Amino acid sequence: MLENLKSVGIIGTGSYLPNKVVTNEDLEKIVDTSNEWIVDRTGIRERRIAESDVATSDLAALAAEKALFNAGVTADEIDLIIVATCTPDMGVASTACLVQDKIKASKAAAFDLSAACAGFAYGLVVGSQCIKTGLYKKVLVIGAETLSRILDWTDRNTCVLFGDGAGAAVLGEVPAGYGILGVDLGAEGSGAVHLNVPAGGSRLPATSETVKQRQHFVTMNGTEVFKFAVKVMGEAAVRALDKAGLSNTDIDCLIPHQANMRIINSAAKRLKVPMEKVMVNVDKYGNTSAATIPIALDEAIKSNKIKHDDIVVLVGFGAGLTWASCVIRWYKEDKTIV
Ligand code: ACO
Repeated sequence: MLENLKSVGIIGTGSYLPNKVVTNEDLEKIVDTSNEWIVDRTGIRERRIAESDVATSDLAALAAEKALFNAGVTADEIDLIIVATCTPDMGVASTACLVQDKIKASKAAAFDLSAACAGFAYGLVVGSQCIKTGLYKKVLVIGAETLSRILDWTDRNTCVLFGDGAGAAVLGEVPAGYGILGVDLGAEGSGAVHLNVPAGGSRLPATSETVKQRQHFVTMNGTEVFKFAVKVMGEAAVRALDKAGLSNTDIDCLIPHQANMRIINSAAKRLKVPMEKVMVNVDKYGNTSAATIPIALDEAIKSNKIKHDDIVVLVGFGAGLTWASCVIRWYKEDKTIV
């Protein structure tokens, strides 16, 4: 039975970032912060913010269409759409269903996945199992966020860190020995208190009081999240490598969640991966939560940082608290990408 399982890899990626750039200097005008503090403590210089009439499904659909094109797959070949997001368009229906309609993937099942910044890598694992077992042939996994909508723009502790954007990947069968070789997923629910949006769910439904108390915005204990992140990034990557029968010295390209340059540096150091093998764009986009890994992956592919046969390691952490890592032996066909 097990030997009949298919090998599954990423056969196309795409990303979309809103045009509007908000710099650290722009933020100096609205909260008590400075460009120097933000660059020194986080590495972020600017972020993209979606226009007010643009929602997560809009960004997701634009990224998805590029991924489909680059994979050479049409929308009606997609069997399943997974949208990893913590900023859905609405509570009900799922953003994945809205994307299904926008891109006209009429045959696809669709659901949202809630694992915050680790959501895209969680989605790759879930989606790849559906192909491995023969249930589906093509799965679209999207990480998309409009975090600007759930940020308290009077709170300097959080509003300087995040941005909006989307990235997508098409999963399909690849030759044996290629594709996703090892994964590590995990959660530490006791850490949910450190990063959450308190109101708007069943615990604290929306009332005029919750709005007045600003409880519909992100609250974060940055120090606790930071400690969790530096520990878990290296550990999760090593466990996924181990399951793939590989080690840290095999890594050709590391795509870490883009939350903070100091966390990225620490993960690279723990894994002993030189920075030239590490994809970094946190300076340009800030933390786009579930979208950082697919956006960075798409940029790495476009800038030829990933070659056929390379070992690519994706690793993320996020609210929940959650973590996820995927080790991929890259299968690359020669074709034009956008
Ligand atoms: N500008 C100026 N000063 C600031 C700012 C700001 N934007 N934000 C905080 N400060 C101040 C604090 O008030 C504090 O002042 P005090 O000493 O007078 O109290 C001081 O700077 C130091 O604060 P720290 O919290 O100790 O700063 P630190 O070096 O830890 O950096 C940061 C804070 C950047 C938030 C860091 O802890 C971090 O990156 N944590 C991880 C956050 C993260 O990755 N979150 C996303 C998780 S993924 C997801 O699922 C969404």
